[in-house]
Amino acid sequence: MKQSAEQHTTASRIPGLGVIVMAAGLGKRMKSSQVKVLHHVAGQPMVLYAVDVALQLASHRIAVVVGHQSDRVRQVIETGIAGRPGSKSVRIVEQAKQLGTGHAVMQSRPVFCDDDEARPRNYLILNGDTPLLKEETARELLRVHQTQSATVTILTAMLDDPSGYGRVIRRQPGGDHQGAITSSDVLKIVEDCDATAVERAAKEINVGTYVVSGEFLFDALDKLEPRNAQNEYYLTDIVGTAVAQGRRVAAVTLHDPEEGLGVNTRQQLAAAEQVVRQQIRERWLEAGVTMRDPGSVWIDAGVTIGRDTVLYPHVSLEGKTMVGEGTTIRSGVRVTDCMIGDRVEILDFSVLSESDVDDDAHLGPFVHLRPGVVIRRKAKVGNFVEMKKTELGEGSKANHLSYLGDATIAEGVNIGAGTITCNYDGARKHRTVIGKNVFLGSDTQLIAPVTIGEGSVVAAGTTVTQDVPADSLAIARVLQVNRVGWVAKRRVLLAGSAPSRDSARAPGEQTKLKTDNTSSNVKKGRAKSSKR
Ligand code: UD1
Ligand code: MG
Repeated sequence: MKQSAEQHTTASRIPGLGVIVMAAGLGKRMKSSQVKVLHHVAGQPMVLYAVDVALQLASHRIAVVVGHQSDRVRQVIETGIAGRPGSKSVRIVEQAKQLGTGHAVMQSRPVFCDDDEARPRNYLILNGDTPLLKEETARELLRVHQTQSATVTILTAMLDDPSGYGRVIRRQPGGDHQGAITSSDVLKIVEDCDATAVERAAKEINVGTYVVSGEFLFDALDKLEPRNAQNEYYLTDIVGTAVAQGRRVAAVTLHDPEEGLGVNTRQQLAAAEQVVRQQIRERWLEAGVTMRDPGSVWIDAGVTIGRDTVLYPHVSLEGKTMVGEGTTIRSGVRVTDCMIGDRVEILDFSVLSESDVDDDAHLGPFVHLRPGVVIRRKAKVGNFVEMKKTELGEGSKANHLSYLGDATIAEGVNIGAGTITCNYDGARKHRTVIGKNVFLGSDTQLIAPVTIGEGSVVAAGTTVTQDVPADSLAIARVLQVNRVGWVAKRRVLLAGSAPSRDSARAPGEQTKLKTDNTSSNVKKGRAKSSKR
């Protein structure tokens, strides 16, 4: 399969830049037993959005501060960045007690200051709950920081409803501020809960993205005091410290305030999800993917799609799914962590996870691929077929109503309707191996472990309990008995007798009807019928 999907452009990293991501808070306002930064936005844990920006920009180390559910957060980060360029520069540090954002940043000091070579010229500091922030914006923040020779540069947004956010307080024209005036006239950041009524009326908010000079950051943090409504060490207080020291504080205001959305509540999580999903759809439409009803299509952040692929309504592509070129995915299909080739057709309401589907294969409708399935080129899987840990060879077909688990099926095989691999003996799973060009008749049961040799035929209705040699017929079913005239006799019998308990019995229980099933009777039956 060709990997034709759009790749991220990895613009150059910024020399002398270290990055700190704050991700230790629980997120009480989410009302969740799961730590906030692990909640997903478009299928990706929120913290990975900030780590992603960090990986693209940092030339020095990246510190991610974790606290609540730190083992889990650490694991998600390690898995999320594995193999990514720059991932070796990521250090995870613990904030044992969540004493505020300033305290969180303090915990990263050893990452940068234990080793003189690791000391960055500037730090980019990111909240772990701002998933819409773009790499270009952080880059712009750094550019302004450097061109204005600022000590602290903050990212702000103008909001109609700024409630909940820290407010950016600027010097009023003609105000009586006595300190050194900075070029941006930012004076301080005040948290919502600490703000006066006048401060609260300010519409400019702190997004929670900062660039801070290396020579200032940790000294300023040492001076923080938790004198506020939350008794926390606020990172935001370093703005006031810089102003008081006559240092330059610069500010960049977002053109699109949406990008500054901080996720503290489920409402904000839902809003972030909407925005990211729309951006992803636009990106793939732009890259040459057709969507019949874009608003209903869900594409996770980690998905890639080839051009000329067509997505019908309510398709959901999840996790790290890769879809090739010219593939058609019909309505209601959910694909999670799969590799789908070129020109594949997946019909309606199929569910696929952790499986590979090679070029020109045809699946559905109503197919269920559980983890570990490989569908080879031009193979076909039809309605109501469930598969697990199974390879279906090139051009092979399983078109109707089957369960195929723990099986290796070579090319050119026909799996009859209703075939079941009996792979589980109640304690262990066993494999079924089916050779090239085998024909399995309908309603075959394969009691694993079992091997069907190349070119063999298994008769419909057979329960296969032993290996079948190549080019052989396997048949195992009860001989059929035809009782000629049986129904006619019963009809006469039933008509002649008054309704009674006897007549309500099943035909096999009637005393006057023979139920013997011996071969002599079979022969008699045959003889009788041949006389007619
Ligand atoms: C913070 C800012 C606020 C800004 C808003 C933007 C402070 C004091 N306030 O408020 O000015 O408008 O973000 O969204 O910084 N964290 C830790 N350790 C802690 C506390 C928090 O690592 O002890 C992490 C959280 O996991 C989160 C980030 O820091 O990723 C921000 O914390 P949060 O509690 O969401 O701060 P806000 O109240 O949103
Ligand atoms: Mg927040």
